[in-house]
Amino acid sequence: MNRTRAQLAGVGTYLPENLVTNDELAKTIDTSDAWIRERTGIRQRHLAQPHETCAFMATRAAEIALARAGIPAAEIGAVILATATPDQAFPATATRVQAALGTSGFAFDLSAACAGFVYALGVADAMIRTGQVRAALVIGAEVYSRILNWDDRGTCVLFGDGAGAVVLRAAEVDEAAPQLLSTHLHSDGALGDILYVDGAVGRRDLPGHLVMNGREVFRHAVARMSDAIDEALAANNVTRADIDWLIPHQANRRIIDGIGKRLGLGEGQVVVTVDRHANTSAASIPLAMAAAIEDGRIKPGQLLLLVALGGGLTWGSALIRL
Ligand code: ACO
Repeated sequence: MNRTRAQLAGVGTYLPENLVTNDELAKTIDTSDAWIRERTGIRQRHLAQPHETCAFMATRAAEIALARAGIPAAEIGAVILATATPDQAFPATATRVQAALGTSGFAFDLSAACAGFVYALGVADAMIRTGQVRAALVIGAEVYSRILNWDDRGTCVLFGDGAGAVVLRAAEVDEAAPQLLSTHLHSDGALGDILYVDGAVGRRDLPGHLVMNGREVFRHAVARMSDAIDEALAANNVTRADIDWLIPHQANRRIIDGIGKRLGLGEGQVVVTVDRHANTSAASIPLAMAAAIEDGRIKPGQLLLLVALGGGLTWGSALIRL
């Protein structure tokens, strides 16, 4: 029996022009390429220049996704932008993207830190399943370089800037067809203090910098993301062996390897871009997915498992038949 489901119609990305290696960072920060690589797997990151705002990068990524999907902007009924680094408190950066692209319907930002893209997929999927929209842009775009404490070497070396976008399109399909099969979302506000930004609009007493207890985040990351993966597999009646590609949030190579190992996936089945992009928060999964589609590793018909965890704590998974 055919039902309305969301299909992934196109992917696009934007990375800032300024590429900064670990060695370059080590010129101004008391760190080294060896320390960063060994602890995180990161070799380099793209850092935004002033004109590369959240809206700018989101718009560029979305333009590419639309062109690849072959869908005119006017047919997009919703722009959902996952970001922790919007250009302004309001209007939502998503509405700036809407204006730049000429999409119709509505646009809003979604705040779920590094799990933002999976959350946004979940929201867009629900809207498509219920017939509220027929096509949506789901974007993750971040400029963490603007909220990093550049005097804290324990955090500033971990992040990069960038944007990734996907177009979701409604289709009347059966169970075996390409579609977003499920999303599972979670949060636990009691863990909000292990990863947060110490500021907000109007808080002149706080600088608005990212603060992290890295060891605690590490501990929760593998456990929670593994749980979200098991949940996705069980809900769809598929096994670990059915998964073609794991596309995890790109925070840290050791976290990624831990999850891949627990799933029993070989290195060739886990998409890793943290070495090139560092942690781009809500942008990391679409950036990784696009890289593996563009270089031909991910192929139509394959089963993709997305999983993320971020400040909140927030975490979740999405299962996609491409
Ligand atoms: N360069 C050199 N030395 C450093 C650096 C650096 N950039 N940062 C910290 N150090 C030093 C510390 O000062 C400390 O020195 P000391 O022993 O003389 O006091 C030593 O290295 C160890 O510091 P720790 O903070 O204990 O380092 P740890 O081994 O825990 O590694 C890391 C830190 C990489 C952040 C780790 O905790 C981790 O991987 N956490 C996972 C969290 C993560 O990846 N978060 C990303 C954002 S969250 C998300 O996206 C899910």
